Amino acid sequence: MTMKRFDLLTLIIVVFSACGRTSHETEMDKYISKLMSQMTIEEKIGQLNLITPGGGIPTGAAVSTDVETKIKEGNVGGIFGITGPEKIRQAQQLAVEHSRLKIPLLFGSDIIHGYKTIFPIPLGLSCSWDMELIEKTARTAAEEATADGLNWNFSPMVDISRDPRWGRVAEGAGEDPYLGSEIAKAMVRGYQGNDLTSNNTLMATVKHFALYGASEAGRDYNTVDMSRLRMYNVYLPPFRAAIDAGVGCVMTSFNDVDGIPASGNKWLLTDLLRNNWKFDGFVVSDYTSVNEMVDHGLGDLQAVSALALKAGLDMDMVGEGFLTTLKKSLEEGKLSLNDINRACRRILEAKYKLGLFSDPYRYIDESRPEKTILTAQTREIARDAAARSFVLLKNDKNLLPLKKDRNIALIGPLANNKNNMLGTWAVSGDPQLSITVLEGLKNATGNNSNIHYAKGANISDDPEFAQKVNVFGTRIDIDERTPQAMINEALMLAKRSDVVVAVIGEASEMSGESSSRSSISLPDSQKKLIRALANTKKPLILVLMTGRPLALEEEIQLADAILLTWHPGIEAGNAIADVLFGKYNPSGKLTMTFPRNVGQVPIYYNHRTTGRPNSGDEFQKFRSNYLDVPNSPQFSFGYGLSYTTFAYSNIMLSKNYMNSNEKITASIKLTNTGKVDGEEVVQLYIYDKIRSITQPVKELKGFQKIFLKAGESKDVHFTIGINELAFYHHDMSFKAEAGEFVIYIGTNSDETISDVITLTE
Ligand code: NOJ
Repeated sequence: MTMKRFDLLTLIIVVFSACGRTSHETEMDKYISKLMSQMTIEEKIGQLNLITPGGGIPTGAAVSTDVETKIKEGNVGGIFGITGPEKIRQAQQLAVEHSRLKIPLLFGSDIIHGYKTIFPIPLGLSCSWDMELIEKTARTAAEEATADGLNWNFSPMVDISRDPRWGRVAEGAGEDPYLGSEIAKAMVRGYQGNDLTSNNTLMATVKHFALYGASEAGRDYNTVDMSRLRMYNVYLPPFRAAIDAGVGCVMTSFNDVDGIPASGNKWLLTDLLRNNWKFDGFVVSDYTSVNEMVDHGLGDLQAVSALALKAGLDMDMVGEGFLTTLKKSLEEGKLSLNDINRACRRILEAKYKLGLFSDPYRYIDESRPEKTILTAQTREIARDAAARSFVLLKNDKNLLPLKKDRNIALIGPLANNKNNMLGTWAVSGDPQLSITVLEGLKNATGNNSNIHYAKGANISDDPEFAQKVNVFGTRIDIDERTPQAMINEALMLAKRSDVVVAVIGEASEMSGESSSRSSISLPDSQKKLIRALANTKKPLILVLMTGRPLALEEEIQLADAILLTWHPGIEAGNAIADVLFGKYNPSGKLTMTFPRNVGQVPIYYNHRTTGRPNSGDEFQKFRSNYLDVPNSPQFSFGYGLSYTTFAYSNIMLSKNYMNSNEKITASIKLTNTGKVDGEEVVQLYIYDKIRSITQPVKELKGFQKIFLKAGESKDVHFTIGINELAFYHHDMSFKAEAGEFVIYIGTNSDETISDVITLTE
């Protein structure tokens, strides 16, 4: 009886909520259909136009003109590059008070790793392997950006990156599809929350769809060519994850996919994205990527614009190919009214979902910025996020953590440098508000501090190189002194100190968009400095700031300890002090492999097997290896040290056989065997021993970040089901094949303990 009442209640709830959903959709559909029935062709095409008045950072040659007139005439669907309640109110007023149909505008921006409170670069954040933290940074960014009137974000960037020559590796989560997918979901949750109409949530955009991270030779905007198998198994999963998490918008990439530029690729934008994945948001191009299809050789602007619209692109960023040619194409029968209606409806739906039709000013509240942006609390989150993103690469004789009373020579071009703390793609951040390492160490050591600073070297001595890097402001500042004079000063200081902390690496804009490098070593100026410092025989700690993995073979030999901090964001110096002095015990793990030299690139842990694999690092004739460098990387995926040590033991399986409906629990015992408390990222990898297609030697399928007090132990469990064993086949089906699988659990992708399970037919 009770059971029956329960069933009835469940049924009522299900029906009721289904009705609720339908009626909501119907409401939106009805509203938009009515609006569209009043729209002219020009007004519909106007909605597909995204402009930037040039206030932000242009990422191409073009910026939009006649903005005011265009808005009033209904020729604009959204704007990016303007911020602040006042300016956004003015622009919104033009649309809702002066245009014929009063359709509100979308206000977008690139909020990649924080709005004003700048967090570590995304590659750095990914090294925290901390989904709660990553979600919190995205949430904070959304709070701040919406307080400044914005409602749409061009993030997360989820491009898998296996080539550190490509500058944009800084913007993503590294090389792994599983970790990348988890991070994509966390970021979408953080930006969008669970109610897009709320005035503190942003509509997120997953980008760059697709395969942009595989640009040939690591050169930005270059051609991509890849098998469907690799697309499905490696490059597409983070997009799928963001879409399943409800992301509102997808941005296309600049590159071609199977020979057709992404912005005009019907297979990608319609067959896969809409029909297969059921994406129901809208698709925006990248900056002038529609126009660039002319350079790709697909026709003139009118032809490529029609191609893009028909392929499934809804909004054209900056290029105005849609605005200026779609009507003509319609008149000439080169596209249908349906094509235009479909894209227009999707843009209007986004505005509806954001609540802009019921209140176009809902994100605009002049009292919010002061209360919300860059507060003591947001800075605290940034400091914590930075400390958690650092990766300890080397720590001989437990040189770190340092005692505060040591006499420290703080040396290097990035040691007292506000301009490079934020990292690339921090368009709304103010570098001058960031904390330098010198400030951070002094904050930590107080008035009696024994910290003395010398610059020691320029980031680079090459003025031509500096000019290319300094496009958004001075990042490389070439000193008036000679390089030798700077080194001499640093050496004098080093000799009268107990320990040398050298803060070295890349300027912010040495990575990021249009910042590819063919050499991924430190610039010569800094190499010389490090050699000279090492010669003093003083203990040498390198604090390494970079936007990409670097080749550091020589520096690794010379330094006693290396702390990789990436570009740490606004609280850089304080977070570095927290870790150097042991207030926070580093727990970050690499999410991109560090090669020994650039010739090993692309290098990644989950490479496929070859027919002539090399065993170990010894050269073997007629095996897959190099004459001049071992196959193994300098630091492998998942690697990172701690001030404590962790032991892995007792790998246990709940059973050895499973069928496709069952699950197995794999467990290990983790023990903190050192003297201080710490966190460890426990990683689960799987290798499928026999498959009908060639397969990765190992694939990440789970991870957990575990805190243990010194001496404490804990059992860590992972559940393995069919999804962890399945992969995409030639026919694009996702399924597992019966047989044996090796289960590895460990501290990084190379150091693991293992056991074997069998999937039965
Ligand atoms: C070009 C970049 O590729 C993209 O990531 C960014 O969102 C747009 N410019 C807008 O700034």
